[in-house]
Amino acid sequence: MNNKNEMIQMARTAMKHAYAPYSKFNVGAVVRGENGQLYSGCNVENAAYPSGTCAEQSAISAMVTAGETKITEVLVMGDSEKLVSPCGACRQRIRELASDDTKIHICDINGIRKTVTLKELLPLSFSQENFK
Ligand code: THU
Repeated sequence: MNNKNEMIQMARTAMKHAYAPYSKFNVGAVVRGENGQLYSGCNVENAAYPSGTCAEQSAISAMVTAGETKITEVLVMGDSEKLVSPCGACRQRIRELASDDTKIHICDINGIRKTVTLKELLPLSFSQENFK
């Protein structure tokens, strides 16, 4: 399996495990760490709605838990014929550990439909570089 297909497969599996009884919108995300390893996550909703977490957040947590702090590639897939692009908060979460040129693959249920850089998704971003 090539790298992209492996990411798609992992996102699809994670998406199937999503806990989304309120929105009924399952999302799967995969991030690649600096050592090439892939980490997946799904959205986990909560009856107290703001306590729910996004798929990207889960995938990033899995990567950091494994001891990695650099994201080199991201893929996001929703259970929909429409594209699922990372939400604003997740763009900022990705920004913390990725670089301007990190590729983000945006999928629909069938596969990758668009690949953009983090800079395209979050121009003029705020990061630790903005601290004085
Ligand atoms: N969701 C994600 O997991 N990632 C995104 O980037 C977009 C939104 C989830 C959150 C919530 O559980 C559901 O999709 C509907 O917003």
